[in-house]
Amino acid sequence: MRTAILASGRGSNLQALIEACQSGCLPIKIVAVGSDQPGTGALKRSEEAGILTRVFPIKNYPHRQAQEEDILIWMRENRVELLLLAGYMRVLSPQFIRQVSFPVLNIHPSLLPAFPGLHAQLQAVEYGVKVSGCTVHLVDEGLDSGPIILQEAVPVLPEDTEESLAQRILEVEHRLYPEAVRLLVLGKVQRFGRRVQILQQEG
Ligand code: GAR
Repeated sequence: MRTAILASGRGSNLQALIEACQSGCLPIKIVAVGSDQPGTGALKRSEEAGILTRVFPIKNYPHRQAQEEDILIWMRENRVELLLLAGYMRVLSPQFIRQVSFPVLNIHPSLLPAFPGLHAQLQAVEYGVKVSGCTVHLVDEGLDSGPIILQEAVPVLPEDTEESLAQRILEVEHRLYPEAVRLLVLGKVQRFGRRVQILQQEG
């Protein structure tokens, strides 16, 4: 499945996806990586893996719609069949989502619907929850609101800071995201409205 990834930052989830492909665990082909930020770790990691990259800096466009139009054209040119958001820190507009005919997935560092948006780990620490975690979900027209494919809990420790919790959640993200994508491309993700059922693994 021809896959594009959008990432804004360091790109550790992108790296986990690249490595899962390289080890043969994830049957997708990452054909292009895009970023709204130049010079990011995500772009560097992609180039090192020999993947085509493209930057869509928001300041180069008169408005967000123009930037998203370019992303749509770029996906069409690369015959993309799956879009993965890996730390892409811009919310895609409802118009963009409506124009994409294939699945779009996102990973978010909390147990949604708790703590959507930015700084999910800080929100969790400040709220005082005892458990947080991460969520892989289908992207819909809302903010971190699409149907949930996989979630995994991570305990919040009394001494946790935003950084320490983020680090422990990240380790789980690196396992959960490739696994969710694998289940999707193997046709094991069945959707019933908001509810997603994972078909049992054979063998
Ligand atoms: C990850 O924790 C990801 O879940 C989060 O940004 C980080 C990116 O790290 N995404 C969001 O908060 C999206 N709302 P990475 O660049 O090392 O993959």
